[in-house]
Amino acid sequence: MLEKIKALKGEIEAAAPETALQLEELRIRLISKKGVISQLFEEFREVDPLLKKEVGKALNELKNSAMEKINRLKELLDARQEEGSRADLTAPGDALTLGSRHPLAIVRNRITSIFGRLGFTVAEGPEIEDDWHVFSALNFPPEHPARDMQDTFFIEKNPDILLRTHTSSVQIRVMERSQPPIRAIFPGRVFRNEAISARSHCIFHQVEGLYVDQNVSFADLKQTLLYFARELFGEGTEIRLRPSYFPFTEPSAEMDVSCSICGGKGCNLCKYTGWLEILGCGMVDPNVLEACNIDSNKYTGYAFGMGIERITMLLYGVKDIRLYFENDVRFLRQFRSAL
Ligand code: DAH
Repeated sequence: MLEKIKALKGEIEAAAPETALQLEELRIRLISKKGVISQLFEEFREVDPLLKKEVGKALNELKNSAMEKINRLKELLDARQEEGSRADLTAPGDALTLGSRHPLAIVRNRITSIFGRLGFTVAEGPEIEDDWHVFSALNFPPEHPARDMQDTFFIEKNPDILLRTHTSSVQIRVMERSQPPIRAIFPGRVFRNEAISARSHCIFHQVEGLYVDQNVSFADLKQTLLYFARELFGEGTEIRLRPSYFPFTEPSAEMDVSCSICGGKGCNLCKYTGWLEILGCGMVDPNVLEACNIDSNKYTGYAFGMGIERITMLLYGVKDIRLYFENDVRFLRQFRSAL
């Protein structure tokens, strides 16, 4: 009996309940009617009368110390709880971690906002297209290589349903449903059956521009693109137009901007030419206007198209196109924008 009392005494001294629930469990185990101490009092009746005095004293001490300990612990836990409820409710909360805009969205928004200031509206068209809007109405000859399975993702053949390979298809959709004056840009996602590498991807983004009205000239195109280049790349930027070929424009050109890194002196980025190619453009081919029921004797127009990935690479020094699509937050977090 004395051994049991001693063991319990040690247990009581060591007890350190953390919660009100644990404390209640301890109280029930020790000093409730069916607790271990009450049980010892039952057993006490059987104790040898010669030992009763000594055992009784120890047992009473045990009971008292158990009650005392439980009361003390209760006070302690109550005090702790009160302290918790006195927390400063006016203290600022944990800051929310904000996301950031995707670099391609930042640059697309900059481009649409620059043209917006020149009176261009924004329109969109479907990513799944037919042959007419992607090729035929844009004056592609029947045997043009872009119509090949090697270059284009076809969904169905005959009649051809495919993923658009450029946003020029939206030109056709807009001209089919409206008459000039038309002044709009068309941002969107395009698809080409290309091997994925640091420089090319099978999914990318373009912005197409279109202006059709009476007396629209190549000079208008050049002036608009010069303004655009300076807004996007900085005031001192120069442009140059090189003759080129696209089925849907005549004449056609490719536009270079003076290299933003070396300012035209020649560096790694511009491959020591001083120039960076950023878009294709030209005067809308009369065949294209006629395909959309726009009178090519009355109206002329210009068009241009550019890749957003490439321009973003030039603006931010991104070296690998695949980074745009990998969703690695270490890459994405580096971009901040108000737009
Ligand atoms: N559609 C062309 C491409 O994907 C880009 C382009 C070039 C669009 C010249 C135009 C243009 O509107 O006039 O490469």
